[in-house]
Amino acid sequence: MPSFDQETLRADFPVLLREVDGKPLAYLDSGATAQKPRCVIDAMGSFLSERNANIHRGVHFLSRNATEAYEASRQTIKAALQVPDTHELIFVRGTTEGINLVAHGLEEKLVEGDEIVLTIMEHHANFVPWQILAERCGVKLHFAGLKEDGSLDMEEWKSFFNERTRFAAFTHISNVLGTINPVADMVSFARERGVETLVDGAQALPHGPVDLGTLNPDFYVFSGHKVFGPDGIGVLIGDREKLNSFRPYQSGGDMIQRVSVNGTTFRDVPERFEAGTPNISGAIGLAAAFQYLSEIDWKLAFAHEENLRSRLSSELEKTGDVKIFGSAEGKAAIVSFFPGFAHPHDVGTILDSAGVAVRDGHHCAQPLMDYFGVPATVRASIAFYNNDDDIDAFLEGMAKAQRFLA
Ligand code: ALA
Repeated sequence: MPSFDQETLRADFPVLLREVDGKPLAYLDSGATAQKPRCVIDAMGSFLSERNANIHRGVHFLSRNATEAYEASRQTIKAALQVPDTHELIFVRGTTEGINLVAHGLEEKLVEGDEIVLTIMEHHANFVPWQILAERCGVKLHFAGLKEDGSLDMEEWKSFFNERTRFAAFTHISNVLGTINPVADMVSFARERGVETLVDGAQALPHGPVDLGTLNPDFYVFSGHKVFGPDGIGVLIGDREKLNSFRPYQSGGDMIQRVSVNGTTFRDVPERFEAGTPNISGAIGLAAAFQYLSEIDWKLAFAHEENLRSRLSSELEKTGDVKIFGSAEGKAAIVSFFPGFAHPHDVGTILDSAGVAVRDGHHCAQPLMDYFGVPATVRASIAFYNNDDDIDAFLEGMAKAQRFLA
């Protein structure tokens, strides 16, 4: 039965117990990478110390064992996300590789004059691959803007769809604003017009489960390290038939049917896009993360994150001379702000000296920074393992920043 005992859950994350320069660590940078619970660290350690072997390549005991563990991980994650039967799960390096793989696959399918609809809130992983595709194929890109509160301007987004629109890619949750996009409606709107969709779930899964059976985009991508799993592993879930119609993204071992001097034939997904030895221990660690997350009551966890976010946000606003970006209804626990009194890097440095880890910079979302007319922001991103002490440390650090820098 899922539950939410915040203190017990927090104690599952060893790194949160450490100090930085003699001060307790207040980790408010989970949007960049999330911390790992002990069970993920143990699952990888136990695989590497007891069962390590290459997969799909040996008849010996360890190889069979490793293959079973790797494939079981795929099934665990598919079940957790309620992946529809029509779709397959491919292990990739992360969100970036997943999106590049799809953009590469589309290269042979799009022709000059076709159009792709994006949004201005995308991070670079869901921006640059489409720009490169556009340059290669002569495809036109549209970028939907935002409303005052940082929510997507749906009217503008919809207005970009026409008879030349072939694809739409959009984030599930903005890594800068915390805005949760109405992805189910967006997928349906696009599908009704014969347009395929890719949803970037990198910032969504850390804040609660996703039911892909209901959302049903053509493609969904995310990174393991942001969802309390290992780095160097991520997932692309996509329509099986569409993926099998893409030419291989990388080639080599395991993705082939038959190789001869005359040529090579390729396997279907998932192996088609898992060339070479994959990140086996990463897949096992990621499945352990999903198993761990399935034991959390996410209604309570999300409410806890929201309490912390709203306290941080309202106290921050009271300090004056900060502009917070993103106040959309029901947003996720991400607070980005521009400090009018100093450069975001300087504020980040003072916060660091108080043991508070935030991200400062453009958050791999330079077009969004341009849109707001700021070079950078400070971002506090909250996960369920954060507590009021973390928010206190942040607010004390901000008071110090104002004293030193204003
Ligand atoms: N996209 C990651 C972030 O938001 C790296 O920090």
